[in-house]
Amino acid sequence: MNVKEAYSYSVSFLEANGVDEADFKALTVVCHVAGIKNSEYHAHKDDFIITKRLADCLWKLKTGEPLQYVIGKWDFYESEFYVGEGVLIPRPETEELVDLAVKYLKTVTNPVVIDLCSGSGCIGVSIAKAVTDSKVYCIEKSKEAFRYLEKNAKDCNNVVLINDDIFNDIDIENADLIISNPPYIKTSDLPNLQDEVKKEPQMAFDGGNDGLDFYRIINNNWTSKLKPNGVLMLEIGEDQGKDIFDVLTEFYNVEVKKDMYGNDRMVVAKR
Ligand SMILES: C[S@@+](CC[C@H](N)C(=O)[O-])C[C@H]1O[C@@H](n2cnc3c(N)ncnc32)[C@H](O)[C@@H]1O
Repeated sequence: MNVKEAYSYSVSFLEANGVDEADFKALTVVCHVAGIKNSEYHAHKDDFIITKRLADCLWKLKTGEPLQYVIGKWDFYESEFYVGEGVLIPRPETEELVDLAVKYLKTVTNPVVIDLCSGSGCIGVSIAKAVTDSKVYCIEKSKEAFRYLEKNAKDCNNVVLINDDIFNDIDIENADLIISNPPYIKTSDLPNLQDEVKKEPQMAFDGGNDGLDFYRIINNNWTSKLKPNGVLMLEIGEDQGKDIFDVLTEFYNVEVKKDMYGNDRMVVAKR
């Protein structure tokens, strides 16, 4: 079977099994198995493809496994990140937070950054790669997620990885920027997540009764780890833009910014 036939077969298979976004998922797994980028499909449509590997991928998609876990990696900001069971898949909204951080950090010499709740490392590792004179501490509690963090940070000598709970008192140097995309879904809303999202670790989502537990601990325990005039940047849920002002009592100039979809998504605050 060649790449073009494999693509056509995959679309039909996924559609027949009720998988959403069948076109895009078919193209992505076929190109993954063929070892090419999606954009190279046309140039390689007559290449031979290993159907056994493709069949494995299609079967996993049929059972509801996220596309990103099936292919084992995902593009984020300017790099590819390894992902799989046990780690949150990086989201495009988070790229906007990284972009804000990189712009700010380019105005600081040898900045120190703390990325709380790092997951795959998509925030901290992207910053470390984009701001080469920075030193970035990435803190992640989950052992499974930490394994991906280690893989994704492998070639970065300006990243320090810490496998710990941000509710603990962690001895660390003071930072110019603390950044975090913490769990922020209310515990009672977790059962309402989409089935595919439920395949991702619940620990990555659970923000406690009102979804704000992690912002409280950042405000209460982490402000002292910021240098004077240091900056805090957070990702928030789209319905948390008002509540966050009551939580961030240790900060002034708290500003909520919208994402590309027009939803409240990021907070920038100064110590
Ligand atoms: C929303 S995910 C964000 C992951 C990554 N920063 C990103 O943007 O894709 C939250 C992360 O916090 C981690 N986490 C949950 N509780 C934690 C805790 N108490 N201390 C440190 N990390 C924690 C989860 O394992 C998960 O990786």
